[in-house]
Parts: sequence; structure tokens; C-alpha cells
Amino acid sequence: MEALKRIAAEAAVAEIADGMLVGLGTGSTAAFAIAALGRRVEEGLKVTAVSTSLQTAQAAEKAGIRVLDFADVAATDLCIDGVDEIDPHLRAIKGGGGAMLREKVVATASSRMIAIADGSKSVSQLGTRPVPIEYLPFARAFVARRVQELGGNAAARLTEAGSVFLTDQGNPILDCSFGPIVDPDALALSLSTIPGVLGHGLFVDQIHTLYLATAAGLKRCDW
Ligand code: A5P
Repeated sequence: MEALKRIAAEAAVAEIADGMLVGLGTGSTAAFAIAALGRRVEEGLKVTAVSTSLQTAQAAEKAGIRVLDFADVAATDLCIDGVDEIDPHLRAIKGGGGAMLREKVVATASSRMIAIADGSKSVSQLGTRPVPIEYLPFARAFVARRVQELGGNAAARLTEAGSVFLTDQGNPILDCSFGPIVDPDALALSLSTIPGVLGHGLFVDQIHTLYLATAAGLKRCDW
């Protein structure tokens, strides 16, 4: 599995050209992209990057990549990130690591987004995994009720030690199970319009290209 993640990540990083401002995703697949980009920078590639999490910023800096503060950046050229699930229309569920709010901002700010994944992430229909929702703590019960009205079952995300998981922004997450998601676009819109929802992990129109690595080889899909 790790080898497949690396193959997908390296294919995406090969698309980075001199002078680009790159959005770097979060997670174990994105970590292979950061390592590959670090090697290209060492070989002389001139790029700058923005990060979707504190973890990624640290890894990128360690790899020798110059990381800018996204607060000062209005647009990026290319974003590379992993997914938890992705369907044939390049709609995805993200946020297994809790970084989906920053990930969606950076993906949307990018001219292009490339998703990178091993074959286990490819599904015919989204919904095997819950959709993570980052919310304003003040609105917890209200958001959970709205999720329930949309057919979802909301569970508070906890750390391995059993305390409430908090994002890089210090907010909690509800992992919302909907079962098979018949209309991801409609659900994404409904979740986005709940007051108190700060961000969610349904990515329905951000991903332009997918590099999917399986035992059968590397496949590129474009939207
Ligand atoms: C981080 O919050 C997520 O959106 C990740 O991008 C996603 O969970 C994929 O992570 P892995 O590459 O570790 O599976």
C-alpha cells in the first residue's frame, strides 16, 4: 500500500513546474508528495508552497520546501492531496486526518487540484466512510440535529486517548455517517448551508485529476 501511495504521489509531483506556488495536502499519501517535492527542490526546482496543516508545514520545511503563510496568498497554481474515498466523477470524502477545512480552502484557491490515492480509496459510490464536519462548538447540538434531518448519524471525533479531537483551528469534528450517498452534490450544498458548520469533507467540484495507483498500474483520470 505504501508503495502505491508513493507511485501516485510521485506522478503528481512530476507535474510541478519551475515557479509554481503549490498547495500541499495532509496525510500519509500527501507525505510522499512532500518528500518527492523536497527531492526535486534539492535538484534545483524553484517553487514555493502553502500548507493545509501544521503537520504538513513542518514536513515541508524539513524537506527544504519554502512554505508561505496562506493568509497572504490569494491563489495557488496546483494543489496535491490525498483522499479517503473517491468516486468515478472525482468526488471525494476527505478529512480522515481532520484537515478538510484548510484543505478545501487551498484546493478551491488552486487553478488545479490533483488527488493522489492507492486503489483502496476508489469507490463506485461515496458513503462507506463518514463525512467529517468541523463546527463551531456553540452550535454542536443544532448541527447534529440538522445532520440527522439530512439522514446522517453524527458522532464526536475523539483522540486515541479518548479526549475530544481538535483541528488545527481548535474546533471539534462530528463524523457523520450517511450510508451510500445518492447525491453528493446536494448533500455537500446542504451541509455547507448549515449555520455553525465551518467546513466539511465532501469535495464535489474541486478535484480535476486523479492519480490512482493499484497493483495493475498507475491510472490517470481527468474530470
Ligand atoms: C486529511 O485530513 C485528509 O483529508 C487526508 O487527505 C485524507 O484523510 C487521506 O489521508 P491518507 O493519505 O493518510 O489516507
